[in-house]
Formats: sequence, C-alpha cells, structure tokens
Amino acid sequence: MIRLITTVLAGALLLAPTSTASATADNSWKLNSPDGTLSTNISLSDKGELCYDLSIDGKQIVTPSKLGFEMRGVLKAQQLEYESDGSIDKKDRQPHYSLHDGFTVLGTESSSFDETWEPVWGEESQIRNHYNETLVHLQKGSRLIDVRFRLFDDGLGLRYEFPECNDAPYLCIVEELTEFNLAGDYTAWWIPGDFDTQEYQFTKSRLSEISSVYPQALRGNDSQTPFSTGGVQTSLQMKTDEGIYVNIHEAALVDYPCMHLLVDCEKHTMRSYLTPDAQGYKGRIQTPAKTPWRTVQLARSAQEQLASRLILNLNEPCALEDVSWIHPVKYMGVWWEMIAGAGSWSYTDEYRSVKLGQTDYAASKPNGRHSANNDNVRKYIDFAAEHGFDAILVEGWNIGWEDWANCNKDYVFDFLTPYPDFDIAALNEYAHSKGIRLIMHHETSSSPRNYERHLEQAYSLMNQYGYDAVKSGYVGDILPEGTYHYSQYMINHYLYCVTEAAKHHIMVNAHEAVRPTGLCRTYPNLIANESAMGTEYQAFGGIKPGHTAMLPFSRLNGGPMDYTPGIFETDLNAWCGNGSTVGTTIAGQLALYVTMYSPLQMACDTPEHYAEHMDAFQFIKDVPVDWSESRYLEAEPQDYLIIARKDKNSDNWYLGGVTDEQVREFKIPCNFLEKGRKYVATIYKDAPDADYLTNPKAYRIERKTVKAGSTIKVKMAAGGGFAVSFEAQ
Ligand code: NOJ
Ligand code: CA
Repeated sequence: MIRLITTVLAGALLLAPTSTASATADNSWKLNSPDGTLSTNISLSDKGELCYDLSIDGKQIVTPSKLGFEMRGVLKAQQLEYESDGSIDKKDRQPHYSLHDGFTVLGTESSSFDETWEPVWGEESQIRNHYNETLVHLQKGSRLIDVRFRLFDDGLGLRYEFPECNDAPYLCIVEELTEFNLAGDYTAWWIPGDFDTQEYQFTKSRLSEISSVYPQALRGNDSQTPFSTGGVQTSLQMKTDEGIYVNIHEAALVDYPCMHLLVDCEKHTMRSYLTPDAQGYKGRIQTPAKTPWRTVQLARSAQEQLASRLILNLNEPCALEDVSWIHPVKYMGVWWEMIAGAGSWSYTDEYRSVKLGQTDYAASKPNGRHSANNDNVRKYIDFAAEHGFDAILVEGWNIGWEDWANCNKDYVFDFLTPYPDFDIAALNEYAHSKGIRLIMHHETSSSPRNYERHLEQAYSLMNQYGYDAVKSGYVGDILPEGTYHYSQYMINHYLYCVTEAAKHHIMVNAHEAVRPTGLCRTYPNLIANESAMGTEYQAFGGIKPGHTAMLPFSRLNGGPMDYTPGIFETDLNAWCGNGSTVGTTIAGQLALYVTMYSPLQMACDTPEHYAEHMDAFQFIKDVPVDWSESRYLEAEPQDYLIIARKDKNSDNWYLGGVTDEQVREFKIPCNFLEKGRKYVATIYKDAPDADYLTNPKAYRIERKTVKAGSTIKVKMAAGGGFAVSFEAQ
C-alpha cells in the first residue's frame, strides 16, 4: 500500500500577498504570528545591516539582532578565480568580504500558510503547520541573498537563501554571523560546545555564568573568534525571569555544517558558530542554495514548549512516495551485556592489528565471552517472541571488533562477514519463524569513506536476509583527519546513508551522528538517533537524575532518541563487577517509555533480569510505540515531567512521570480520558522506601477502575518515577 506522509487535511492555504507583514517606516517591516501574540520587526540599519527581533505578548525576548556572513574571496566576478584555484596554501592570502552590511533591500514578499499533515509515526497523528511569512530580497554588489522569516504562534524560523548566480556560483563561508541577542540574563540548561559529541550532562546556569563554569567550551580551532567566552550546543533551552521559555535550535540541517552558539556572557548575546571543515572554513555553498532554519521557540510554560512542533514544521514534507515499509519498533538486543562488561563484541583476544580479511577466525581461539553467538542470540529471540517484541539487535556479529577502537584505520569493518559462531542465515530464519526481525549493526569506527565503499553491499546483504533496520555508529575521530562529526562533510554522509537506505527499504538509527533537526519528517526511515548521553552511561559511571527530565527540552526537540531504557538489574556490580551507580529506580525506568518519545524503543536489559520482575515487565510489553495524542501535564526542565499519551491503535492511554533527585508528589486529574468511559488503570510506582541510591528496585503495582476526572496520586522517589496504563473498557 502506498501511503503519503503528508495528507493535507485542512487544505494547504497559501495566500500571497497578505497584510501579515507591513512596512512601518522606511526599511522596516513587521510580521505577526497567526494568532497575533508573537511579532518580529525586520529592519535595515543605516549601515545596511539586516536585523530582526522577537516579542511575545508585547514583551521583547530577542532584541534587535544582526544577520549575515563573513565570506572568503571578493565580491566580484573574479571570485570565481579565487574559489577555483584550489590552493589551500594561499588560504591566508585570500581576502574576506562582509555579507552582513551594505545591503540594499530590493523588495519583500509576504504570504500565509495553513495545513494539517499526518506523520508516518509520531507523538500525535495530526500536526498543524500554520505561519505567516516575509521574504526579504537583499543585494550587495554582485551578490543577491534572500532572508525568509516564518512566524508561527510558537516561534520564529529564519533562513538565508542564495539565488542562482552563474557569474559566481560558489561561496566559501568564513563564518555565519546570525545573532540572537537576548533581552535578559536568562537561565539556560546547556551542554558545552563540541564539534564531535553531545554526550554530556546538562548544566543549569545564568547565561552570564556559562564561561566561568566551562571556559573552554568549544573544541577545535576557535582561537580567532571575537567572542572569548563559552560556546554551547543547541537545542538550547532557556527561561526568562518572567517565566517565558525560549529555545534556540536549527531545522532541516542539510548540506551545511552544524551550528553551535557563542555566548557573550556579559551582554547575554549569542551568535552562530559553525563547525569548521578540515581547512577551517565553515561551509561551501553552490548556488542556488539555502541554509538550515535558525529557530527561536517561545512558550508561556514548559508544557507548551514540549508541545511545539516548529522544528518538524520547518522541514520539507515526506520525500518518500512509499512509506508502507516504515514502522515503529519495540526491540531487545544483544547489547547491554557488552556495554556493562559481561560480554564482548569480539570473538577472540588473539588477533590485533591484522588487516581485515587476513584473519583466520575459524582457526583462532575464541575468548569465551563473545555475546553474538548462535545460542545467545536464540535465547534473546525466544524471549522477545514470547513477549510480543518486534525485533532483536545483535552487535558484535561481524568480524573486526578485535581492532576497532581508536585504531585510526580505514578498513576495520567490511559489514559483510559474520564471525564463525554467528550463522546469519539460520538465525534470521529462526527469528522470522517466530515473528522477530533481527536489527543489523554497523559500527563504522568513524571511517565514513570505508562505510560508503561498502554501503551498497552491506544494505544488499540486509535485504538478502530480511533485516529492515540498521543501527549505525560513529565512535572515534573521523577519518579523514581534521574532519569533525558535525562538519558539512559528515552532515552529507549521514543523510546519504539514510537516502540510500530508503532505496533498500531500510530504517536507520544512527548513533554518534549529528543531533536531529526534524529531518525525520522528510525521511521517516530515520527512525531515531542517539546524539546525546544515553542509557549506556549508566554503565560508564552513571547519569545524574534529572537528565531524562531535560532531554525532551533539548535533544528531543529535533527528533526521537534511541535512549535504550529498561534497566531492571540496577546492581551492575553484583551482576558483572561494573562499579557504576544506575541513577534511577525501576519505576523511573518504566516511565521513560512514555516520557522519552521515540518510535524505536528498546528494552535494554537481559531476559534473565526481566524474568525476575515479570510483573513490572508487563508495562514494557503493553506500552505502545506510536501515539495519536500527547498531553504534557507537568514539566520543568531537568526537574520533573509528567506526560499522557493515547495509543494510535486503540483507545488506551498511558501516563509516565520522572523526577530528579527530589522526592515529588503529584495529584494528576485524568481529564485526558474519554468522558463516560471506564478504564482499568495499572499503576507502577516507587515503593514508599524506594530511592535510586539505596533502594532502586522497590516498586508497587496497583490496579483500580478510573474514569475521566478521577485523580491519580503518586509519590516519586529520589531518582524515581511512575508509569500507568489505562485499558479502555
Ligand atoms: C556506542 C553506541 O552508543 C553503543 O550503543 C554501541 O554499542 C557502541 N558504540 C559500539 O558500536
Ligand atoms: Ca554513544
């Protein structure tokens, strides 16, 4: 069946021109959001600088902020010469020119748009995309540049567009100079700038405090930046003293480097700071081209911020004609035992530094700890099939793991050859006979060229054996040297893998790739990413409580995360000598299946550990992975979250809540339930004496009949949470 992701329900309404942007004086234009509560003033200064601001309910949140670029080359037709001589040695002798002042406005266009579209999977089954738009046509010398502003009721998107220019089609960016000047010293929840990873815990501080907390926030060659203070990553959640939630991110990151934010702590201003390429430049553009959207979301409450779909709305509609093969997945995996140290990815301890293909694994001595062996994989398949899962991830199935990490080699994995004790044909056949699919694993060891060389064969192998999803990974420094994980080169690589996968009807879950920017709307086979500190860190020293109450405001703003919840054996030391402390209770783990939205959800622990708590495991079995409606009931970043969601395929509702290290009590009115209907509520909660440090496994399960208007009382332990299923009668 062919199903289009975007069904235009309300009828896309494109009106142009309208009165939504009005010229208020010479060289200044006002844009209002559809409900009139947000407004943006766009203006051209005496120096020809284009500026914008942003207000909510008449209160300015972003003060006038300049837009533009510093470019390499000259602003004439001879730019072509500079760009095409290909000489990196001459780099420093290349002139730069400013594309942030001296602009003339050639004209503006205004329009409005209103549609309701249906995602293939999501937090709800319908999403409204409603905005007013102003397009400003600018000129400086021979260069034309447009800036498009879209104002929604929940925030602003703006992007640069470069019309086709045959005389000088190539641009080399020295820096993008998009400013976000904030009207106050807002509270921010941030992770430090880093061009290679987002795997950090969050810090809460005033903007003015960022540099003292983390002076060296940006890794890489940032010595020339005029901002001497700390840089942070997006999606950056902030809050004003008046309680307005402000979030800066980007949408539709395609063929462009990932944006960080440089913060001037004294003035509480910020500007874009792009990931450099190996030569230190910040992006290469061939006209016609457009940048990603720069976004500022505004909300009057934390709940409103969580309900914002601005990032998805700024992405293009689905590019795939047939999406019938894309589906949400609940899975288990041969994984946690390796992460925690109870098993190994590699088959032998003998061979190191041996060129791929020259290692005779069949003749080598097994290390006895290889987890991806036939018997172990069958055990997972049996358990997953018995309990209604869709899939099993198997890592460590392919040769090369003896010598993969930090080896700085370009040929470690071929993604094709199984270890001798992993029978790829028989295991897939066995899995399929029980209604389970195996999930492929491709650790690229950060060699994108090696991966691209093998990609077609690797995806064809998956098709041959019936795999329809791959977890890929990018551990280590990227080869070629000097290339960052968030550079334009890698941004293009990640999307290339997703679009090639779509041709093979394969869903992609990429770890260590760039944080998402809503591209899953356009390519819904991108079913998840990691791109933040996930559950694995519970085995790498632990994660402070509050992290999962933060992620929905930051990392999840761009798309779903493969957070891999579900730890039931919190005593990692007793299990396998892992000295880490798990920062949640069992009830807190159950909550994550509701609070951490993803169409790809893992139950990460082992069958043996689940077997010890089958009553609690019932919630993981029952909870859906696709929703028709979501309600954000209580929330404060990094403190607590309570979310209710309705199953897309039944009338059942689910509720989840998490807290940080504080014990919290809530009375939750069940107003979301259908009026006049009865539900059997099963409540999974922390026991009165539960505590993530001293008593994490203590939970209680209660059952009662409820209806709309009933109240559920819960007390969450320190580092705890709760989960409820409401079965419609
Ligand atoms: C890091 C990933 O996050 C993890 O899930 C994976 O098991 C390892 N890399 C090995 O690829
Ligand atoms: Ca990782």
